Amino acid sequence: MTAAGDLGPSDFGAVPPGVVSLEDWAPLARARLAPEAHAYLAGHACDGVTARRNRDAFLAAEIVPRLLLDQDPAPAATLFGRSIAAPILVAPVAHQGLFHPLAERATAMAASAVDTILVASTLSTLSLEAIAEAADGGTQWFQLYVQPDRGFTDALVARAEAAGYAALVITVDAPVFGVRNVEQRAGFRLPAPLAPANLRDAPADGGDGSLAALLARRPTWSDVAHIVARTRLPVLLKGILDVEDAARAIDLGAAGVIVSNHGGRVLDLAPAALDRLAPIRDRLGDRPTILLDGGVRRGGDVHVALSRGADAVMVGRPLIEALAVGGPLGVAHALRTLIDEWAITLALAGPPRRSDARDQ
Ligand code: GLV
Repeated sequence: MTAAGDLGPSDFGAVPPGVVSLEDWAPLARARLAPEAHAYLAGHACDGVTARRNRDAFLAAEIVPRLLLDQDPAPAATLFGRSIAAPILVAPVAHQGLFHPLAERATAMAASAVDTILVASTLSTLSLEAIAEAADGGTQWFQLYVQPDRGFTDALVARAEAAGYAALVITVDAPVFGVRNVEQRAGFRLPAPLAPANLRDAPADGGDGSLAALLARRPTWSDVAHIVARTRLPVLLKGILDVEDAARAIDLGAAGVIVSNHGGRVLDLAPAALDRLAPIRDRLGDRPTILLDGGVRRGGDVHVALSRGADAVMVGRPLIEALAVGGPLGVAHALRTLIDEWAITLALAGPPRRSDARDQ
């Protein structure tokens, strides 16, 4: 299977008239999706305080433009030696088969087409190998949920390396999922045929599903140290909000961190991801790679995040809303919209300067 080889024109989807920004996909996705699938996508933990804070932090931010610069404001970015169109990546989102029949194949094709990076989830509908194949030469990172069985976790990492993934993102903020009242009210349950392909051969974990059993096998820093020592891929820890956790990750050999509260889906009342960025950059210094996710909807948000210390941002929900409505073309269009807004922001405001963060 090449990226698009066996697909007909209708498989690529379409962009409905009037869609000009990322937020335009949201009401269309709500109308298109089954209520349970929509609750999984748009939902959050408990009362959604953290999810709202993510967006509110960007809405409260300011960009003071620098004018009359004669430098070329280039929207491109480089991460771990790989140049991409913009510092905007596709965040890992689980179970994409809930939203489109092509599942992660669609997001992989779209990311590749606009020349950015897809971060594929451990909980993807398709196997990590199938996703890599769909990207057809595009760059991909693999998001790892540490599995209860260390051998199985090691095997997943080895598979990601063999399939050509360029970095490993270990999600560390969800030893258990949050209190997902929105999903519960809608009666969301993952349909059995959409069980994650990567975990098909996972050994039975012996747990009874209780909180105590889940906590007994939650990942710890020793799992992170083990993975960092074994893999040749750069490792980023995702879900970091505390400066000392960030420093510990780097001390253990991680190449970077992703400042994130999981889109407000795990611990409600956690701070906005954006508000944790500058302190973490200050603590880590210039070298480690820092990404942010949570609340990015506009090109101006990318500028704000970079001025506060991020090297790049990731976007999740709006791209999956675009997937649900517009298929691969929808995702590519949404990414292109954000990249164009970012380029326009650069042209209007000049490049982000990290010193701006310290003035705020
Ligand atoms: C999975 O990572 C989720 O947030 O549902």
